[in-house]
Amino acid sequence: MNELDHQLEKILITEDEIKKKVQELADEIDTAFPPGEEIIMICILRGAVVFMADLARCLERQVTFDFMDVSSYGSGTVTSGVVRIIKDLEEDISGKNVLIVEDIIDTGLTLKYVVKVLKTRKPARLKVVTLLDKPERRVTEFKADFNGFAIPDMFVVGYGLDYAQKYRNLPYIAVLKASVYS
Ligand code: IMP
Repeated sequence: MNELDHQLEKILITEDEIKKKVQELADEIDTAFPPGEEIIMICILRGAVVFMADLARCLERQVTFDFMDVSSYGSGTVTSGVVRIIKDLEEDISGKNVLIVEDIIDTGLTLKYVVKVLKTRKPARLKVVTLLDKPERRVTEFKADFNGFAIPDMFVVGYGLDYAQKYRNLPYIAVLKASVYS
């Protein structure tokens, strides 16, 4: 995919920049959890699949994978703040080291809810990593423990992120043209 798709404005973060950042995040995560202890990585479907696959391979310890699918009620770009679990975890996380892996934090509502729910299951440690963050869009206070790139308020796709389920397989992060969704 050498040519930029006609719906895309520009490349915001290149494949090389992502690769470097993923390794940096993995190093931070390895330092933050007790040495040698296993981590359950929880992928928030579907956007975080690509990031989690790469991140896992940069971590210097045993990890296991689990998946959670959540959706927020509301239409279009407006979320109501009510989040629903569509697919819950398979594993019992009590007493375990848990890392929630997210692609992007926007309003912060999804992760705030997921963290609240998972804390009630008494993990030994619960931390959050996000590749991207749009701090300007926050409607509730939320900060991840490990942050990749802070980006402006624009709609981005690629490296797992979609627009209408498209573009997830781009190896870079690109900005969607505003004319496509407005
Ligand atoms: P929030 O933080 O609860 O608003 O939700 C974050 C979720 O919104 C992410 O997991 C994505 O699925 C979606 N999202 C937010 N901004 C973007 C974007 O720029 N591109 C693609 N998906 C996005």
